[in-house]
Amino acid sequence: MFQKLLVSFASILVVTMISASAAPAKKWVIGMSQCNLGEPWRVQMNADIKKAAEAHPELQLIFKDAQNDTLRQRAQIEEFINSKVDLLIVSPKEAAPLTAPVRETYKGGIPVIVLDRRVLGGDFTQFIGADNRRIGRSAGEWIVRQLAESPRVKAGGKARVVELKGLMTSTPAQDRSAGFHEAIKGQPVEIVFAADMKWLEPDARKEMESALAVHREIDLVYAHNDPGARGAYLAARAAGREKEMAFVGIDALAQEGQAFVRQGMLAASFEYPTGGAEAIASALKILSGEKVPKEVTLASRVFTRENVAKGGEWLK
Ligand code: FRU
Repeated sequence: MFQKLLVSFASILVVTMISASAAPAKKWVIGMSQCNLGEPWRVQMNADIKKAAEAHPELQLIFKDAQNDTLRQRAQIEEFINSKVDLLIVSPKEAAPLTAPVRETYKGGIPVIVLDRRVLGGDFTQFIGADNRRIGRSAGEWIVRQLAESPRVKAGGKARVVELKGLMTSTPAQDRSAGFHEAIKGQPVEIVFAADMKWLEPDARKEMESALAVHREIDLVYAHNDPGARGAYLAARAAGREKEMAFVGIDALAQEGQAFVRQGMLAASFEYPTGGAEAIASALKILSGEKVPKEVTLASRVFTRENVAKGGEWLK
């Protein structure tokens, strides 16, 4: 009996050793809390993370999708704390309600990388994202230049613009709006209609239907993301009015915003990189005990009909 046990123990040991030599043991577990996967940009972020991590067999990644539900995202972060992951990457749905769980993770000794949307305060290891205020400002400056050529502005009037905002409890929407308003201040541009479309194409479409019903004259739609710009375009097309106005969005994924510009649906799309690869690079540093900067700002490009074939142009 004892001998038999010994034999099976030995064989388990051998099997473990063989499998260990075939694939190195996972050293670190990273939890990734994604606020939703209903939008192409977030699917891309997870794909970028996965791809970057594949080159590092010492990393094990666990993805959780909060399905655009703040309470679910809070619960999923708690689950990561309880399962004692080595590091948390989080792309929060909203700033305020996710601040406490991120703080709890960080204060409990688990490093946290916050990606794209911010939380309040500074209780995390690192924030990675593009500068949304600057993107909003660049979009505003570009829009002012385009609209200067419109008959209404040339005749001394003000261009009529619709702003379709992202979820205003999330920081990119706040910043994309603030930067845009900085740029149009004192310019011949009037916001005739503004609404929160929560980053979602169907909501943008509905809001744009209301804008079209009330306003006979619209020159341009500035949407805080490309799904929003597309929703607005579809509403205008259904009303037979898409040629009267221009549409500008943000994200510029190759298969989304850049393609929409190439197809002529959007006049411009401003790039919003996912930061997925950068998050894995930082995670490796943090897990190896290296110090990392508190903030990483990603560069972005603008894609227009003139430059899309050449790969866009970097924002200055
Ligand atoms: C996806 C998304 C993107 C946008 C980002 C802002 O959920 O809405 O379109 O750029 O989130 O956080």
